[in-house]
Amino acid sequence: MKIAVPKERREGEARVAASPDTVKKYIQLGLSVAVEAGAGLGAAILDQAYAEAGATIVADARTLLADADVVLKVQRPTDDEVGLYKEGATVIAQMAALTNRALMDKLAARKLTVFAMELVPRITRAQAMDVLSSQANLAGYKAVLDAVHEFGRAVPMMMTAAGTIAPARFLILGAGVAGLQAIATAKRLGGVVYAFDVRPAVKEQVESLGGKFVEVDPEATRDAETKGGYAKEMDEDYKRKQAAKIAETVRKTDIVICTALIPGKPAPVLITEEMVKEMREGSVIVDLAVEAGGNCPLSEFDRVVKKHGVTLVGHGNVPARLAVDASALFAKNLLNFVTPLVDKETKALAFKWDDEILKGACVARDGALVHPALAS
Ligand code: NAI
Repeated sequence: MKIAVPKERREGEARVAASPDTVKKYIQLGLSVAVEAGAGLGAAILDQAYAEAGATIVADARTLLADADVVLKVQRPTDDEVGLYKEGATVIAQMAALTNRALMDKLAARKLTVFAMELVPRITRAQAMDVLSSQANLAGYKAVLDAVHEFGRAVPMMMTAAGTIAPARFLILGAGVAGLQAIATAKRLGGVVYAFDVRPAVKEQVESLGGKFVEVDPEATRDAETKGGYAKEMDEDYKRKQAAKIAETVRKTDIVICTALIPGKPAPVLITEEMVKEMREGSVIVDLAVEAGGNCPLSEFDRVVKKHGVTLVGHGNVPARLAVDASALFAKNLLNFVTPLVDKETKALAFKWDDEILKGACVARDGALVHPALAS
């Protein structure tokens, strides 16, 4: 069985879906691996490193994909790529499947078996396959560095002969995977860190990282969390109280890191234009939620802009800004997903369709869309 690792074709994508380490592991499982020439360059992996791990290097995507049984990718394929896959092949990537139905239809029409890594259920057994966590963790870290890069001041308190510099004050909105890493990173840099989330369970986690939890209305947030651990959309009364509390905190904040998301919905607006106007000149907002509409309506996708004296950072695809580590972890997530599928006798993929993980992640098979959110 042949695994193919093509070069990512979407703009700004520097990551790659396999590392020399995972190539070795696939080969140990009895599979063969082919990598498109230059696929790892954005993640500082040379063709030679893949070749030394046992992969064949193939000069072009057409040849690479023509006989591949399994295609590993970071991002969903481009329309051009879909036509290059062998009919019946398995394609595994972060598909953004639920918002790209037309593309999923095309993949299904080619009789591909399609797995969307973002749909892998977040159960304990699947933690090592969780690309959302592995990538969001790095994004949270990078968001703090991006903020500090734009900030014209130092972060830690410094007492020097020439005077004392006050520590920078951070507010982290949303304390999920990205937010918790942002708190930890800002603390390590010496910042004073406040954090806020609608899920009350997070308070303890924030405090254990040295952050101060901004509490709005503990009573109202008692059932703000879904069974899957995600946030629900809050009611108008709560939103008003929350806005007042954030406005009060933001006035004393130098750097805001926005990470709040609600699955399947636009990101909640937490920092209004009025609040931005009240922030101090030279403050910075990094909006990691920008691809879902943003937690601040003034942030712009893939741009760094200055409004009302505040720098708003809206980089898209933040994990790709740390492509080396992001690729290594993504590649490992894919290896952990693929390994249990390989039949030890036949050395081919054998799907147990009653498995919760496969059921959750499968978008298409046998020529049809099968995911409950898409099949109709
Ligand atoms: P996410 O990316 O969907 O959202 C980020 C954060 O924004 C969440 O903490 C959410 O509560 C918060 N948020 C949403 N609306 C908000 C609002 N109006 N104001 C303030 N904050 C708001 O979530 P993420 O980071 O992917 O994970 C969330 C949770 O999922 C985790 O804390 C955990 O409970 C669960 N999880 C479980 C895993 C597992 O394998 N068991 C792995 C990873 C996450």
